[in-house]
Amino acid sequence: MNLRRFSVALVACLLALPVLGAGEKTAEHKNGVIVAVSEPGAEAGLAILKAGGNAVDAAITTAFALAVTHPAAGNIGGGGFMVVHPAKGKPTVIEYRETATAAATRTMFKKGDSPYTHKMVGTPGTVRGMALAHQKFGKLQWKSLVMPAVELAEKGYLLDKHHADSLNNILKSAKSPSELHRVFAKPEGAKWMPGDRHVQLDLAKTLRLIAEDGPDAFYKGKIADLIAAEMKAGGGLIAMDDLAKYQAIEREPIHGVYRGYDVYSPPPPCSGGTCLVMMLNVLEHYNLKKHDRYSPQTLHLMTETMRLTYADRARFLGDPAFTKIPDHLTTKRHADELVKRINLDKATRSEDVAKDIELTPEGESTTHFSVIDKDGMAVSNTYTLEHGFGSRIVVKGAGFLLNNEMMDFNWRPGITTRKGDIGTEPNTVAPGKKMLSSQTPTILAKDGKVFLVTGSPGGRTIINTVLNVVVNVVDYEMPIQKAVDAPRTHHQWFPDELKFEGVKQYPETVKALQGMGHRVSNSRQGDAHSIWINPKTGGYVGAADKRLSGKVAGY
Ligand code: DON
Repeated sequence: MNLRRFSVALVACLLALPVLGAGEKTAEHKNGVIVAVSEPGAEAGLAILKAGGNAVDAAITTAFALAVTHPAAGNIGGGGFMVVHPAKGKPTVIEYRETATAAATRTMFKKGDSPYTHKMVGTPGTVRGMALAHQKFGKLQWKSLVMPAVELAEKGYLLDKHHADSLNNILKSAKSPSELHRVFAKPEGAKWMPGDRHVQLDLAKTLRLIAEDGPDAFYKGKIADLIAAEMKAGGGLIAMDDLAKYQAIEREPIHGVYRGYDVYSPPPPCSGGTCLVMMLNVLEHYNLKKHDRYSPQTLHLMTETMRLTYADRARFLGDPAFTKIPDHLTTKRHADELVKRINLDKATRSEDVAKDIELTPEGESTTHFSVIDKDGMAVSNTYTLEHGFGSRIVVKGAGFLLNNEMMDFNWRPGITTRKGDIGTEPNTVAPGKKMLSSQTPTILAKDGKVFLVTGSPGGRTIINTVLNVVVNVVDYEMPIQKAVDAPRTHHQWFPDELKFEGVKQYPETVKALQGMGHRVSNSRQGDAHSIWINPKTGGYVGAADKRLSGKVAGY
């Protein structure tokens, strides 16, 4: 099929798709499901499944489509992690995390540096990551997977309320005038409204180059020239050589077993898989169901587990090419040791867990999507620009945003303050090093068959959001939509504070937790677009997270 006809066919498919809004009753699908934060993003992936693509093909299309339709976090100028569970065979991870440039130095940042400068940009990984996933697993032609995004940028897509608000907010808060304003402002300068058509012609040109010339257009060709020129003009460090040398890496997932389910999630330079499996190993020592999901006992136990795990995260985790990561962390033996440190009646003080280290805050914008195809191949993908709209720097003439992922490094080696940065060695800046991530795209399987696909944005809360969803599904046997909607908890060791989405709903539990010594505060946490596979029927049930504006598309 030629490309134009393929595109027409895609549009025809899109119009016929059943797309469910967040919180609507979910259906059971047999052939494929994709759940993502933006409706056109989910639809584009589903059209690829319908056109004979597999879950990886659909994920690639959705990743490029979200770079157009969810610019706060969908990206080609950032990076992330993709977990692939083939229909048969071993799960794997495509790691496409951003990298510090060759010119980066250990002490290049100081406390108080703005997050929105050219120096905050890591060498982007998304385009190489998608190309590696395609090279390993792709069924359809690369070009046909990128073209739907070109069309969305060229012809525009209709804004929903969330995305109209999101553009209005960034236009108001970013320093003006800038390339960001030129690219994202509504032509007449008015506010974006739901139903407006958002066209991005520069981005369309960039994506067309990627579609036609492949990933080298981004890393060695015209787009690389534009990135290098942008860096030079703005005092950034990414040079042509950094781009040319960038590599996405296929890595073995972290594998754990939780109550008979295999758990697969990314390894370092991501902390997500390691920490998730550590926490599940601890929780496996207890019969969670003995107490209600929102009982003080259950929340206390989960909190203590989080606290201990996040302390180990800071102490041990970083890019494995630069730091030796101990192999005992995800063992059951290590969980036995952690369990001994948990007092079932009383909150431990984070001070007493590890007095010497404290963590810095992270941003709040990333996006996760989940895919499964008719053969049972599944993809769990989380990627990010770090902050919403990343560094807020749009590459001049190229129409896309660059990340500010350098924020994820520990900036000041050896300097750890009660309120400030962490200075632990494993995650300090070094040339060519990948900064530690909390992204936790995760797949659970039983007997080689996928059971749950999940993940979330939310900085360090991500790992705990995934933990909450897994516990809801596995221990409390909640239907997937309920498991996604249910209030979540987060504790990250420092600040010594339990964040709980259910503060208003469960006042008695909060009181009891306070009595045990927890400092409890209200929160909103994550955006976990997930898929559950009914083991009895083999049907696929998608659950969009209503916290933002997720959509389930299935057939
Ligand atoms: O990779 C990480 O852990 C962070 N850069 C993710 C940031 C994030 O999730 C912000 N989200 N809402």
